[in-house]
Amino acid sequence: MSANSKPFPRVTAKTLLEYKAEGRKIVSLTAYDAIYAAIEEEAGVDLLLIGDSAGNVIAGHTTTIPMTMDAMLFLTRCVARGSRKAMIVADMPFGTFQVSTEDTVLNAIRFMKEGGAQGVKLEGAGYLLDTIRRLVEVGIPVMGHVGLTPQKVNIYGGFPVQGQTEREAEQIEADAKALQGAGVFSLVLEKIPANLAAKITKQLSIPTIGIGSGPDCDGQILVNYDLLGMIEKFKPKFVRRYLEGARLIREAVSKWADDVRTGRYPTSEESY
Ligand code: KIV
Repeated sequence: MSANSKPFPRVTAKTLLEYKAEGRKIVSLTAYDAIYAAIEEEAGVDLLLIGDSAGNVIAGHTTTIPMTMDAMLFLTRCVARGSRKAMIVADMPFGTFQVSTEDTVLNAIRFMKEGGAQGVKLEGAGYLLDTIRRLVEVGIPVMGHVGLTPQKVNIYGGFPVQGQTEREAEQIEADAKALQGAGVFSLVLEKIPANLAAKITKQLSIPTIGIGSGPDCDGQILVNYDLLGMIEKFKPKFVRRYLEGARLIREAVSKWADDVRTGRYPTSEESY
C-alpha cells in the first residue's frame, strides 16, 4: 500500500446503506465543478451528483436531452478534482445507457476510470434491469431513479408529478423493488406523492433519496443552483432557497462595475 492509500477515505455505497440502517438522513446535492464540490462537501454533503441537470443549469438548454458523454465526463472530472470525502456519482446522459448493455458498461467504466466517479446513476427500470445487474457484477455501484425521470420529457410533455393514479403508483413501487433486486445501492424518487415515497422507503433495505417526494425518504437531493437561489425565473414547489445567490452576485458584480467605471478599482494596494 502506498502512503496515501487509505482504502476508503470517502463515503461509499456501503456507508449509505449503513446510514439507512442507523436512521441517519443522507444529504445529497448536485455539483458540476471543483469549487462547488469542495464547498458542498465541507458543508457536510455525503453524496455529490454530477446531474445531467447540467444541461439546464450549466449549458442553458431547456431539457437534459442534449447532454453528451464528453460533457458529463468533463464535469465529473472537475467535481472529482475538487472533492476528497463525498461519494461522487455521475449521471448517465440520454443515449448512453438505453442502447445496449455493452454500450452502457463501457460508458459507465469511462465515468469511473476517466471521470473519477465512484458510481453512476441511470433513469428508469424495466428494460434496464439486466444492464444494471451487469454493471453491479463488474463493480460499478448504480443509483436508480424512478418517478419523474426528466429524460422522458418528450413523452410526458413537461415535468408532471408521477404516481398520482393507483396504476402509476403501483408501477413505481414495483420498479423500486425490481431495482433493489437488480442491485442498485440507492434510489432517487423524483416528484412523487409523499405517501407513496414513504411506503416505498419503508419497504426497501436500500436508501431512497427524495427530490420533491416528501420528508420520509432516507435522504434528500436538490440541484445546487436551486438551493442557492441562482435560478430566479422558476422555483419548483419542493425547492427551498437557502441563499438569494443570483441577487447577491448581481449586486457584487454591479458594485465592482461601478468601481471600475468611477476609477475606485483598482487602488495602489491592488496594483504591482
Ligand atoms: O440531474 C439531476 O440533477 C438529477 C437529480 C436532481 C436527482 O437527476
